[in-house]
Amino acid sequence: METLTVQIWRGAETGSFASFSVPKRDNQTVLDVVTEIQQRQDQSISYRFACRVGVCGSCAMTVNGKPRWSCRTHISSLKSSVITIEPLKNMPRIKDLVTDMTGFFDKWGQAGNVFESDKTRQDAPAKVDPSSQQRKAANAAIECINCGVCYAACDVVSWNDEYLGPAALNRAWSLVNDERHTGKQDTLVAAMGAGGCSNCHSQGNCMTACPIGLSPTRSIAGLKKMSLFSLMGKQDG
Ligand code: SF4
Ligand code: SF4
Ligand code: FES
Repeated sequence: METLTVQIWRGAETGSFASFSVPKRDNQTVLDVVTEIQQRQDQSISYRFACRVGVCGSCAMTVNGKPRWSCRTHISSLKSSVITIEPLKNMPRIKDLVTDMTGFFDKWGQAGNVFESDKTRQDAPAKVDPSSQQRKAANAAIECINCGVCYAACDVVSWNDEYLGPAALNRAWSLVNDERHTGKQDTLVAAMGAGGCSNCHSQGNCMTACPIGLSPTRSIAGLKKMSLFSLMGKQDG
């Protein structure tokens, strides 16, 4: 049977690759390969997954140099019999393929991503026009599942630890376009602050990497434009 050579990062910030040999099978994903190694060859390997079908976003890893969902990456698509698997970049390494995502999620808060409303449970549901320009902008960014792939792909995050990053700013764009959100100004101020949208170089690595085809690049461009108008409005006033 044909075999794959699989190199898996072992350790934390310091460590080394361990090499495994795994039978090549039809319809085999990277997650299948890691699971087979963990179950049959080395039970001490740590990694994360939950749904196995591209819903939860927890299985993201760096595979042959690129951040990807391991459960949606077929071995055949890699076109190589040598597979190198590392943790996501731009996050501290805890053990093997597991990263500490605390900083990633803290930045969601720092970007002003707390929904605020002046309604109570007793109020009627808000009437939202699905065809309005604002709603379309909010909807275009809303499906993010916090997987961290775009964050790992962003080179500005890698050299500027303060930068809030594509996922947090993409969420901020969704919120500032949500007509139900009463804290829009607070969100915009947070998203245009020191680590905010102006740091983005707009080259689109995040957009290329996002497994569900979202474009944080476009969302951040929208935030930049909105923040410029907001600053011009202040100067006029
Ligand atoms: S924007 Fe895409 S890549 Fe980034 S966290 Fe959301 S789903 Fe993942
Ligand atoms: S376009 Fe902006 S957010 Fe996306 S990868 Fe580049 S710098 Fe990062
Ligand atoms: S395990 Fe849920 S997206 Fe891969």
